[in-house]
Amino acid sequence: MSNFIPKLNEIAERVSKFLDTEVAMHDNFQKVVYEAMRYSLLAGGKRIRPVLAVKSAEILGISEEQVMPFAAAVEMIHTYSLIHDDLPAMDNDDYRRGRPSCHKKFDEATAILAGDALLTMAFEVASKGAMKADSHLGGIKAINHIAYCAGTEGMIGGQIVDLKAETEQISEDELKYLCERKTGALLRVPCMIAADLAEKTETQEAKHLLEYADTVGLAFQIKDDILDVEGDIEKLGKPIGSDAQEGKTTFVTIYGLDGSKKILAELTEKALKACDNIKKLCKTEKQHEACGFLRELAVFLLERDY
Ligand code: IPE
Ligand code: IPE
Ligand code: MG
Ligand code: MG
Ligand code: MG
Repeated sequence: MSNFIPKLNEIAERVSKFLDTEVAMHDNFQKVVYEAMRYSLLAGGKRIRPVLAVKSAEILGISEEQVMPFAAAVEMIHTYSLIHDDLPAMDNDDYRRGRPSCHKKFDEATAILAGDALLTMAFEVASKGAMKADSHLGGIKAINHIAYCAGTEGMIGGQIVDLKAETEQISEDELKYLCERKTGALLRVPCMIAADLAEKTETQEAKHLLEYADTVGLAFQIKDDILDVEGDIEKLGKPIGSDAQEGKTTFVTIYGLDGSKKILAELTEKALKACDNIKKLCKTEKQHEACGFLRELAVFLLERDY
């Protein structure tokens, strides 16, 4: 039996511990914003993005200690994107990570500010990481890539096109475009930051890692769309049927459930091939193990029910 899940949980726990320390409570006049940030950030979540950063770092020879501030910054940005995504003006979802959404527990204004604060603090945490990194230039490049992937050409770009998918029928190309941005960008950037820190962006290993991340990134949103139709709210920790309620064009509305599952399976095969290509370039036992982990991660993301 593979011990993939315990390994995944171990890294996720270290990430949560780091986040708990970095996003500490402050007992001052603005303490409610810290409460709201911590409420959403420490609610659980699979921590897939930081896990990808840690494993990419292992493959590229960077310690977990060095990559962690950047990995945590990506998770903070991801959490902010979820807080804002759930707002009534966006997907209007009341449940997230197994508890009432931030705007339900607090209020809309506080949720907006908690999201803004997580985004801002992400760059405080990442820049502290850059000051401590062996390669300061690598650290600065990682910050640049995080900003790019979170911004108008990345997650924000995808989210704004996603809004259009609520009011009009978008094309297959536009759907792929928006998924690559709203979800793909924050799954790609963990691999990018590891390559930046290692000063290995031009290597074959890094190229195959990015190919893996991009493939998994698209597959991840297709699975998310499928789970929105046939998932279990208890396991998912977020509502189902939200896309249909918003009248959204998704992979399921274009390709149907079976069609979407077929594309998901093909993408997973492609991700496994990328892993094999990375593996061929690995030298140490630790690198081989990290590669094996990425393989299992791709299968886990295909089969997941949460
Ligand atoms: C949900 O992301 C939003 C999408 C990008 C599809 P996750 O499924 O990674 O959510 P958490 O972090 O585990 O809560
Ligand atoms: C969200 O996509 C992607 C983000 C940038 C937050 P969804 O709107 O499908 O994510 P869920 O289903 O609410 O988690
Ligand atoms: Mg959304
Ligand atoms: Mg949503
Ligand atoms: Mg969804």
